[in-house]
Order: sequence, then C-alpha cells, then structure tokens
Amino acid sequence: MYKPVIRPLLFGLDAEKAHNLSLSALDIAHKLPLFETLLGVKSQWMHPSLERELMGLYFTNPLGLAAGLDKNGEHILGMQALGFGHIEVGTVTPRPQSGNPQPRLFRLKADRAIINRMGFNNKGVAALKLQLQKAKPHLDAVIGVNIGKNKDTPNENADQDYLFCFNELHEFADYFVVNVSSPNTPNLRELQDKEPLTKLLEKLQEANEKLSRKRPILLKIAPDLTEEQLSDIADIVHATKLRGVVATNTTIARSQLSTSIQTVQQIGAGGLSGQPVTQRSTQVIRQMRQMLGSGKVIVGVGGIMSAADALEKLDAGADLLQLYTGFVYEGPALITKILKAIKDDTDK
Ligand SMILES: Cc1cc2nc3c(=O)[nH]c(=O)nc-3n(C[C@H](O)[C@H](O)[C@H](O)COP(=O)(O)O)c2cc1C
Repeated sequence: MYKPVIRPLLFGLDAEKAHNLSLSALDIAHKLPLFETLLGVKSQWMHPSLERELMGLYFTNPLGLAAGLDKNGEHILGMQALGFGHIEVGTVTPRPQSGNPQPRLFRLKADRAIINRMGFNNKGVAALKLQLQKAKPHLDAVIGVNIGKNKDTPNENADQDYLFCFNELHEFADYFVVNVSSPNTPNLRELQDKEPLTKLLEKLQEANEKLSRKRPILLKIAPDLTEEQLSDIADIVHATKLRGVVATNTTIARSQLSTSIQTVQQIGAGGLSGQPVTQRSTQVIRQMRQMLGSGKVIVGVGGIMSAADALEKLDAGADLLQLYTGFVYEGPALITKILKAIKDDTDK
C-alpha cells in the first residue's frame, strides 16, 4: 500500500512535513491490534538464519534504521514493530539545537535520492535520555546512539561534547557511533583528520574503560574520503581499539545525477543520499574490510534501495546494514524484502 497509495500523498507534501507526518502515523499505527499481522512480516524477520551476535550484542536480524531518521528516539517502538533489528538514534548533541533554516530537506525523485542540510536539529541529550528510558522495558531491538557536537562548540572543544553525550547516555546505549562525517555542521569533517580524530577517540575510550560494562564504539565515515584517508582511519580504528565503522554517511559529491544541474544548484549545499551513493558506499565498505581485516565490525549504509543492494553490501564485507533513503522511497516493504533475500541467500 505504501508505494501506490501512501507515497504519492506524502511526496505531494513538503519533504520535512511528510517526514514528520509519516512518523506520527507510525506512532499511532504500531499500537493498533493486528499491526504486525497486517504487515505480515514477523515470520520474515524472526528466523535463526537472520540472527547475529556481534560486539557482544544479539541482533534478531542484521538490518537497522540509520541515524538521522529518529534523532530524538521518539519512534523507537514503531521502528522496532516494522522489523528493524537495530535502531540508531541521533545524531544527538549535548544541548538542543534547531538546525539549519527550512527548507533543508529535498527529494530528487529522478535519482531516488535526498539532499539534506538538517544540521543536527535535535532536542539534546536530556530529552533523548527520557525517550530511551521509556522504551527500554519494551525493546527487542539493539539501540545505537549516534553522538555529535553542538554547532557553536569550536572543534578544539569538540571532545567535551562527545564525552558529555557518552557519559550521559551509556546506560541506555548498546553501542555508540561517533559522527564526525556529517557535511552539515561547519568544519565537523575536519575532525576526521588523523590527529584530532585519534585524540577524540582516545578520550572516549578512556571514559569507556571506566565503565563496568564497556560499550562498543564505532566511527561513522564519509564516502568522500580518499584511499589514503581511509587507510589512516583503519590505522586509527586499530590503534584506539574501536569496534568498527559505519560506512557511509551522505556525500557532498553531485556526480552523475539525472536531476537537472539547475535544480541541483537551486537546492544548494547538503549531503546527498540514496541511489547515487550506493556504489561508492559499497566500494568504501570493500576497501575498509580489506584494510581492517576480519576482526572489526562494518555497518553498511548508503543507497540500499533494493534487496540486491543489501546483498551486495554484505558481499563487500558488511556485517550489519542500515536504511534511510531506501525506506523513504520504498516504505516498510523494503525491510521484509531485504530480510527475505538475506534469509534465502543464507539458506541456499
Ligand atoms: C534527512 C537525513 C538526515 C540525516 N541525519 C543524520 C544524522 O543526524 N546523523 C548521521 O550520522 N547520519 C545522518 N544521515 C545519514 C544517514 O544515516 C545515512 O548514513 C545516509 O543517508 C546514507 O544512507 P541512505 O542512502 O540509506 O540514506 C541523515 C540522512 C538523511 C537523508
């Protein structure tokens, strides 16, 4: 029903309004009796061949919701009811912030893509903590918390923001993702450079060492890094004993789009996601797997628009997968399709 009926209605609205409306609808729908039966998915996403044990965590299936869709953790149970095996909330910053002025979310339908320059709009750590507390007793899904810095925190003090998020939220997070790869916070991506990144990750690991139950920490990387930068990142992941990477975030590239140059220029700055990033993201996963070896975890995200895209990312070396733009274009049916394909592929 999503593609023929709901999507045309939603795509007739401003992109951010449609986003908020569909999340509100999900919040209501998932509480209805027979929601899961109507979706008919439970048998597809609860199956022994879909289960994963990674980073000391049990995942009912390898497909998760990517960061940015549920920034404040307000829709966790709805997303769980749709079949996601893990849900990455955030990016959260210590203090609430409103993000960039609207419009800041754009659909490129001809490319099955999105450009966004949201700028870490979120309600801050305290609000997310409350939501995580509320959801905790009802969770089957693994919860990842994606952490960032406030826009007005200078890069020299960024580690304080990341540490604050970590210290405040570790009780409710199964794993953390350090986001230094969003293109929408000025200069954030400079934190991907060798020296500041090593310093930041060392500080987080120092805080982690003090916990009785240490949390797996992953690094989210941009698809725009050169091979040399990726190799530096792999060295840093080993040196700081991170558990792995999330590859990839959105791209600042605008190559090979079907949407006219004029329209793309009118939209302006932002991160591009969806189909145009599929191949590059898979390539980064493949390179990172070679550079990291088999001991680290790779979460593959970026342009998974079909079951075939998902299988390709697993083949390239991803252990877990995440969706954002594919979910917007294809709806919840994509979750079932992907999980069925993974199950069939495993049982072959
Ligand atoms: C509107 C929007 C907001 C996003 N916000 C975040 C964010 O806050 N933190 C983050 O790490 N990634 C964010 N992302 C990136 C996604 O998590 C994902 O890495 C990227 O979109 C590539 O996957 P996709 O092609 O399936 O969308 C956002 C993406 C979109 C489209």
